[in-house]
Amino acid sequence: MTTDPFNSITPQIAASILSADFSRLGAEIENVLTGGADFLHLDVMDGNFVPNISFGPPIIRNIRPATAAYFDAHLMIVDPLRYAPAMVKAGAQNITFHIEVVEDAVKTAGEIRKLGCRVGITLNPATPVERIWAVLDHVDVVLVMSVVPGFGGQHFMPATLPKAEAIKKRLRADQRLEMDGGLHADTIRMARDAGVDWFVVGSAIFDKPDRAAAIAELRTKLS
Ligand code: DX5
Ligand code: ZN
Repeated sequence: MTTDPFNSITPQIAASILSADFSRLGAEIENVLTGGADFLHLDVMDGNFVPNISFGPPIIRNIRPATAAYFDAHLMIVDPLRYAPAMVKAGAQNITFHIEVVEDAVKTAGEIRKLGCRVGITLNPATPVERIWAVLDHVDVVLVMSVVPGFGGQHFMPATLPKAEAIKKRLRADQRLEMDGGLHADTIRMARDAGVDWFVVGSAIFDKPDRAAAIAELRTKLS
């Protein structure tokens, strides 16, 4: 799909490329998008905020011309304002940063929005939902982490569902609620029932031989 997910009110499945085969990233992206993924979730990790290093602007720049799909960047880095400009220049269209790494989330959101992109806030499972109330009006998307960030293939944490419900109650119609981590055929319905609009799925798509079938099964759980 090449549509802007903000233009839709139907559930959206975002393929997290962290779980892709990086030796064939272009083919992997083509495969999951033709297989029905709505857009791409780009997990940027700095080895500091999370104990893993993934990729940055060079990868984003290289895959940008390969697809018209929406690029939703999840910055798991300690200095989002330092690197957001390069991510947007490389082709990221939404920049989501962690509430845990900033002093003033409203200021950070405003600076990111000046780059001409959408802006999102995200919080770790252990972070109380109250931490994001002050920035809620200043973002386009709220990403609820349903795993401790850093790796794909982890187990879904149902304890994060009440946070999603509480946030959903406070969102405007033009804002979106996204969930990320451990989503697969047996957990995605719980997230939908909690009010989630966008579903980030990594290993439950890329680890499957038939990605189209995996995505189709996820869609049936969302209907
Ligand atoms: C984890 C990332 C997630 C992860 C999702 O830090 O933010 O986007 O790649 O992968 P799965 O769906 O395998 O949990
Ligand atoms: Zn992510």
